[in-house]
Amino acid sequence: MLEDTSFAIHPGKGTNSEAVIYRSVGNLKSYSIKDNVYQFHCENGEVAIQFYTESIVRIVMNQHVMPNLKDSQTVISTPIDVVVTEELMGELFELKTNQLSLHIEKAPFRLTVKDRQGRTIVSEGKRGITYQENGRVTVFKEMDEADHFYGFGEKTGHLDKRGEKYEMWNSDVFAPHNPETDPLYESIPYFMTLRNGKAHGIFFDNTFRTVFDMKSDEDYYSFSAEGGQVDYYLMAGPSPKEVLEQYTHLTGRIPLPPKWAIGYHQSRYSYETEAEVRELAKNFIERDIPIDVIHLDIHYMNGYRVFTFDKESFPNPEKLIADLRDMGIRIVPIVDPGVKKDPEYPIYQEGIREDQFCKYIEGNIYFGEVWPGDSAFPDFTDEKVRKWWGDKHAYYTDLGVEGIWNDMNEPAVFNETKTMDLEVMHYNDGEPRTHRELHNVYGLLMGKATYEGLREQLNGKRPFLLTRAGYAGVQRYASVWTGDNRSFWEHLQMSIPMVMNLGLSGVAFTGPDVGGFAHDTNAELLTRWMQVGAFTPFFRNHSAIGTVYQEPWQFGGKYEKIMKKYIQMRYEWMPQLYSLFYQASKSGLPVMRPLLMEYPKDEKTYNLNDQFMIGDNVVIAPILAPSVTDRAVYLPEGEWVEFSTGEVYEGSKTHLVHAELKDLPIFIRKGTAIMQGSWSSNKDKETKNVTMNVYPGLDNTYRFTFYDDDGETFDYENGNYHELEIEVVSTSEQLKIDIINIEGNYIPPYEKIDVHIIGRNNEQEVFINGVKCSDNPIISLVE
Ligand code: GLC
Repeated sequence: MLEDTSFAIHPGKGTNSEAVIYRSVGNLKSYSIKDNVYQFHCENGEVAIQFYTESIVRIVMNQHVMPNLKDSQTVISTPIDVVVTEELMGELFELKTNQLSLHIEKAPFRLTVKDRQGRTIVSEGKRGITYQENGRVTVFKEMDEADHFYGFGEKTGHLDKRGEKYEMWNSDVFAPHNPETDPLYESIPYFMTLRNGKAHGIFFDNTFRTVFDMKSDEDYYSFSAEGGQVDYYLMAGPSPKEVLEQYTHLTGRIPLPPKWAIGYHQSRYSYETEAEVRELAKNFIERDIPIDVIHLDIHYMNGYRVFTFDKESFPNPEKLIADLRDMGIRIVPIVDPGVKKDPEYPIYQEGIREDQFCKYIEGNIYFGEVWPGDSAFPDFTDEKVRKWWGDKHAYYTDLGVEGIWNDMNEPAVFNETKTMDLEVMHYNDGEPRTHRELHNVYGLLMGKATYEGLREQLNGKRPFLLTRAGYAGVQRYASVWTGDNRSFWEHLQMSIPMVMNLGLSGVAFTGPDVGGFAHDTNAELLTRWMQVGAFTPFFRNHSAIGTVYQEPWQFGGKYEKIMKKYIQMRYEWMPQLYSLFYQASKSGLPVMRPLLMEYPKDEKTYNLNDQFMIGDNVVIAPILAPSVTDRAVYLPEGEWVEFSTGEVYEGSKTHLVHAELKDLPIFIRKGTAIMQGSWSSNKDKETKNVTMNVYPGLDNTYRFTFYDDDGETFDYENGNYHELEIEVVSTSEQLKIDIINIEGNYIPPYEKIDVHIIGRNNEQEVFINGVKCSDNPIISLVE
């Protein structure tokens, strides 16, 4: 406890400055090629190089034996046949694909990677791949003056991570998330470097505790792990979008979520009784505030035993779930990994009988304290356990549940270390490893177990899963919320770069607790946060036990009206958002993104923390401080139209923009279009009317995809979807809107798309699909 006082900086304490001895892999002795893997035998280690595609190369080093290339907990793609030319030039060995060239110096072994144009992407200078006696492995790369770093999953601080040092170790952090609080719940050992407008990525696929250091040395950055092999993938880019496509080629993309999961979620720790939940739902219906989901936090259970409902407070969950479903609301219950140690509890009995729990090597079960008291933890690294756990979810799906919320899956334990004993041995599908090595994938594998179980049980309906902990690839199974933030303006501010960097790390479906979890929120903060929440990919209002209630009506009519407007706006934007979610599921590109993703050459975007984009043509610039009604907004090149006022703003400039509490500044780039729907009611959320808002430019072409389907089944996988590729061409005389491709068999409930043209200059004649049109143009979707 003394560490929490000024004693922490007592002059007598000193710092530990023991010299670190790095051992290099040494000189190259010989090399060989086996199964398309280049094997370099060095004096102090073995290095393997494997091309995954022309743009992705994997580099593995093992200090003892030939590298194990079959060890990834998350990579889902396999190497394709890549044409590689090899050249030996004296002291230099060269491997080239169409996109990448690797230059290997032999003495000592050093790697430089260049792009197609011969520009250096990464180089090792005087350092390189190293290891220490204690098993730590470290890779150093030269840091260019122009390097900016992004990604790293869920991190506090600013958008650009240059000058920062981060650790990856899934941690339950309730203490305030300060700028220096690290690590948090997710470990995504991946980052993207942007240098002079060109990007490349590195994914360090090592599940031990890892450290990324862009701070300690002026000339080098490094990534290191407490143990295991050096195992990293280099992605050539060269644009930020290509880097992300390459990274998600390796670790996967989000499944297309059901539409209801993209709607508004209301949560609290906890709505404690069935009556309270019904009252809550009734409020939403009567006030006509859109809602799709109510979350049930730990109080729904009997003594926090997962796969149970408390009989007194929730006497009839099936009826509750069905009644709410009739009102257009789904229930998402929380499921934590800890299974209460209770010999009379069937799940615990079964887990013991069938050997499903994590154990020490000697065979005794690991018990840790969580909400239900002493608990055992399923060993999700075992296929058998994943299946068991997944199957158990029939308990919920039989009651009508289609979504699950996984929490405490770092795993969190109420003890000094905050987690499981590092010596616990995981079965790891037959290759046992300690918790020290697999801690960071516990949440990922719990997610896999849960998602796959739900998918099997839901008879063709899409499941929704929310998780707190994860590893690279978590996006394949779950949406991520950013844990226990607080109701501070600073946390609203911080959530924006955090969500953008998660998006740049492959996790497209994510968001913070809107309004703030811990601490009491207030009317103004909640209102401003709702405006942002309406555009973050995951939109859930959640608050902690003991804090003020923060449902949209808790602060009176004035605020309720504004919050309702923005929640409704979320639904009006659904056609646009759903198309972007579809894009994320296809290519890995995030729904919410930093401006640098679209404008990588524009330095002004490199650390722009308080604005974000939705897709490639919409900039949102929320107010993020109390009593403020004016803010600076940077708009990149082009011309921009403010969504609600229609005012036109010149790009490549910073503007002072006014926004009263009721206003959220939204800018659409001229020459582009967005798709809008309309809100009807909670009971009937089907999109009935679709409008295309077109903002003509003067000299440009814009292409985008509008996607729709039934919104809840997997039938789209069999062609049951509706996809339009639309082109908007603006010249000073004409505006041409053409459907250039139509795909899929799904017949949407609307037969036409209304076209609204906003800010046309009088000389511009409008053509739709080649036909000149007049006042109220439409695009007919029927023959
Ligand atoms: C953890 C979660 C929080 C949840 C609480 C109770 O703190 O992060 O969201 O409400 O546990 O389950």
